[in-house]
Amino acid sequence: MLIKLPRSSDCHESEVTPESLYVSRRSLLGGSMAGLALSALPRLGQAAQVSRYADVDDGAAPAWLKDKLEHARWQAVTVKDEAITPFKDATHYNNFYEFGPDKGDPAANAGSLKTAPWSLVVDGEVGKPGRYALEDFVKPLQLEERIYRLRCVEAWSMVIPWLGFPLADVLKQVEPTAKARYVRFETLQDPRSMPGQRSGFALIDWPYVEGLRLDEAMNPLAILAVGMYGRELANQNGAPLRLVVPWKYGFKSIKSIVRMSLVSEQPHTTWQGLAPSEYGFYANVNPQVDHPRWSQARERRLPSGLFSPNVRATQMFNGYEEEVASLYSGLDLRKNY
Ligand code: MTE
Repeated sequence: MLIKLPRSSDCHESEVTPESLYVSRRSLLGGSMAGLALSALPRLGQAAQVSRYADVDDGAAPAWLKDKLEHARWQAVTVKDEAITPFKDATHYNNFYEFGPDKGDPAANAGSLKTAPWSLVVDGEVGKPGRYALEDFVKPLQLEERIYRLRCVEAWSMVIPWLGFPLADVLKQVEPTAKARYVRFETLQDPRSMPGQRSGFALIDWPYVEGLRLDEAMNPLAILAVGMYGRELANQNGAPLRLVVPWKYGFKSIKSIVRMSLVSEQPHTTWQGLAPSEYGFYANVNPQVDHPRWSQARERRLPSGLFSPNVRATQMFNGYEEEVASLYSGLDLRKNY
């Protein structure tokens, strides 16, 4: 499936959210990450598969992923006329509060995360509950490249080539029962490797939790990613398994998932719990519904700087309206933000 998009219109730097405003979201979390080890860059010089992206090292994919990469469906979904964000920006400008509140903290600190062996607990309303080794769990699934826009609620955006599996295929595999109405996801909780979870100042009630309605989760655009830029995920991007839901604000795309539960009630999610008037359960990208403290009409596409702000209009459902709008027919998107 190719997603064709009109060219985004230009606008002025003054029309986008100043960084000082969304930084206040960060101060909600507080906590100083001073004195932590710098160790997160992907290992260089590995003789693994050759990356398809210029200036991207091959990484150190585990054997099961190398095998999957050889048979991946490249560019199964892409965007038109929009440049892919440089790997360096995608891996050094991150939100992963388990590793600290600043954009550079995840790259600096996520090297401590041990991503193998990794297991995923599947429970709740499913025919096949269990604790699965990641490589066994994904064995029957076809790896696909999906080049998606990522729009953060803070009004910055990127275009990232993910590698993953349709969430619908993953769910079918575990056989949801008739009572399953939502999917709840949970990130690893490990204060030893996650300095943000050790910080007494962070307000998040760990573990980080996110959720989707089951029909949203079954939409073909929703994926579970295991790679990016032709290689394995960098730790700071949520290795070894993260959700990617491109029509929703980035905070829905939960990282380093250890548990997936099929449930009958709407899950209590992290950001909704922290500030319910600012972050809703749906979190669909919507330029017409502003965040209470800033406009969502425009976004700063990375890389961006003072003299090249790279500001563009935000699109409804992040440009995926055709594919997802029907999920919300009859729903008041101002109330259900
Ligand atoms: N998942 C966990 N576990 N912890 C987080 O802090 N941050 C979210 C989301 N997933 C976050 C998370 C937010 S706010 C965004 S914008 C995206 O991850 C950022 O993904 P990226 O760093 O890969 O660009």
